[in-house]
Amino acid sequence: MRALVRETQLDPGDLIYPLFICPGEGVRRPIASMPGVFNLSIDEAVKEAEEAASLGIGGLLLFGLPESKDEQGTGAWDDDGIVQRSLRALKQSGVAKKLVLIADVCLCEYTSHGHCGIVVEKGTGFDVDNDPTLALLAKTGASLARAGADIVAPSDMMDGRVAAIRAALDADGNTQTPILSYASKFASAFYGPFRDAADSAPQFGDRRTYQMDGANLREALREIELDLVEGADMLLMKPAMPYLDVVKAARDLTGVPIGAYQVSGEYSMLQAAFEKGWLDRNRAMLESLVSMRRAGADFIVTYFAKEAARLLA
Ligand code: PBG
Repeated sequence: MRALVRETQLDPGDLIYPLFICPGEGVRRPIASMPGVFNLSIDEAVKEAEEAASLGIGGLLLFGLPESKDEQGTGAWDDDGIVQRSLRALKQSGVAKKLVLIADVCLCEYTSHGHCGIVVEKGTGFDVDNDPTLALLAKTGASLARAGADIVAPSDMMDGRVAAIRAALDADGNTQTPILSYASKFASAFYGPFRDAADSAPQFGDRRTYQMDGANLREALREIELDLVEGADMLLMKPAMPYLDVVKAARDLTGVPIGAYQVSGEYSMLQAAFEKGWLDRNRAMLESLVSMRRAGADFIVTYFAKEAARLLA
């Protein structure tokens, strides 16, 4: 009877599984702060994708660890970059017929300083220079679409990037490639473990000049409205569980598809409690995911995707 009257459904097809792709062959390197998550070389990523597809997972979100980094993050828009090569390998393997391939668009994994844009000196400190960064993000989005990304997902939080990426995609003839914008992304302590996984911790300062203050809901809605005006096709909200009110407010504001990103810290926090035996693994995992769907997310990016899909099968 509970199943009959249940208001919120959770299916494997609602889940997006993030992969961190690194150079080499046969590499499957565990990430200490994220049990069960690995840096994978392209060949291993293809195997992982096949497993995800067989579990009925909806798609993959791809992050890259480049061979080398520089001030501008050139690895991000290199047509032979690590994510571009992964996209081609996934398409060639045929597994991409069953999975939506989403490519994250950001510079922080590719810059030597670890910031999401070009860094300039300002007074005694530094600043991330918004406008010159837009051209680099646009080149990155265009390159990822050419390599086979079904969706590009800018996570940098520069103002104006959605319009810049849209123009670059269209100029390439990729007029049908949707933009999934991380419209509402807060400067969060919950990204800590990701920065180990993607080797993208800022070398100085923090991201508070371009990511939002966690205290601000109205500002998040303004960011969403701006991204929609610029042409965002879908929105990603992050983090998820500490910000479910923001997901709900976004749901009430717009009819476009909305995703919630259960970020690294949310995952690691639960994993730590599971390891200690303090929480029931399966129940707590599914409860956290259902809460995001109930708040209004159509899909969920989660490192639990494989495990959750197995439970739901
Ligand atoms: C890149 C990016 C980050 C995450 C997704 N894209 C890190 C950050 O903004 O520092 C975080 C994802 C996670 O914590 O799982 N800008």
